[in-house]
Amino acid sequence: MQLTVNGKAHDIDVEAEMPLLWVLRDELGITGPKYGCGIAMCGACTVHIDGVAVRSCITPVSDVNGAQVTTIEGLGTPGALHAVQAAWIEHQVAQCGYCQSGQIMAAASLLDETPDPTDNEIDEALSGNLCRCGTYPRIRAAVKTAATTLRGA
Ligand code: FES
Ligand code: FES
Repeated sequence: MQLTVNGKAHDIDVEAEMPLLWVLRDELGITGPKYGCGIAMCGACTVHIDGVAVRSCITPVSDVNGAQVTTIEGLGTPGALHAVQAAWIEHQVAQCGYCQSGQIMAAASLLDETPDPTDNEIDEALSGNLCRCGTYPRIRAAVKTAATTLRGA
């Protein structure tokens, strides 16, 4: 199977039904996406497939054969952060951090589709991304900052 992750092509030899999250973490050593629940209920494993946020824990790797997968490692670089990553730092969003790569990937996908989201749109888009540390107010503030940056406003 052919998988392109963060711009790099990989030939992988795994069972077709293996979840993408397992392939990323265990086969490719890409550990930004986290295992939280394994049943699409927490968002910790969120990655982009062709730019759209998906739960990698329930996505069979065969579904992404030939697709472009982006993880938090490929969203930006330390020298050129994505606006969402920069806003997360500015607002010091992370507490324990476990949910945060999923939150950021979900937020980046939201802003691709909705450049100027309302509070309700942010809450709705990220409602499936759980944070046991309760960072939701900072997440919302950081999304608004990133939205402003991306719009160049
Ligand atoms: S680990 Fe995928 S949604 Fe929880
Ligand atoms: S920062 Fe700890 S779970 Fe979200």
